[in-house]
Amino acid sequence: MSEKLFLPVLLGTNRRDRKSEHVAKWVLTKIEEREDLESVYFDVRDFELPGDHYGTEVGHHFPEWREAVIRADGIVIVAPEYNHGYPGVLKSVLDLLLKEYIHKAVALVGVSAGPFGGTRVIESLLPVVRELGLAVTFTDLHFPRVGKLFDEQGNILDDAYHKRAERFLNELVWMAKSLRWGRENLG
Ligand SMILES: Cc1cc2nc3c(=O)[nH]c(=O)nc-3n(C[C@H](O)[C@H](O)[C@H](O)COP(=O)(O)O)c2cc1C
Repeated sequence: MSEKLFLPVLLGTNRRDRKSEHVAKWVLTKIEEREDLESVYFDVRDFELPGDHYGTEVGHHFPEWREAVIRADGIVIVAPEYNHGYPGVLKSVLDLLLKEYIHKAVALVGVSAGPFGGTRVIESLLPVVRELGLAVTFTDLHFPRVGKLFDEQGNILDDAYHKRAERFLNELVWMAKSLRWGRENLG
């Protein structure tokens, strides 16, 4: 398997002053540091969401996302925890597509102001990604008390995250490679 794995990153909130943007951009740099991986960055803020016609060709509302998901081996979703769940806009973006996700890997990054690092938003996303046909990794990445984890330029202040990100990506790579093999050889 020589071709690089393609792992788009999706930032899952459009909130003004969102702290999750630091997280998503930092995870993107961790992917881009690796020679075996490539990525592209998506921000739910940039999507044109459909009005009242869900389920009918809505994937064409943001063709860049659809093309990236079709090409993707896996997806990284960065989700802040809002009232123990996911931002509605993230769900709306995920709902734009369906069959394009099937048998692709997904890895989840949780972000919170509180001490649990988005554990609950990750748990709430599990049934959603499963229904989309995505196969989720078990190595989540958690960013608790995110307001204290980055400086203003987006540099991470806790070195322990480098090792955590490596483990997180290694597992995603394993899943993405296995699923790529399955798509190519089992149909
Ligand atoms: C509507 C809303 C609900 C929130 N609920 C929670 C929560 O349940 N648990 C938590 O730890 N933080 C909660 N927060 C704080 C966010 O986790 C915090 O803003 C963090 O920085 C990540 O979100 P952000 O990317 O929007 O900044 C909430 C924030 C908003 C705007």
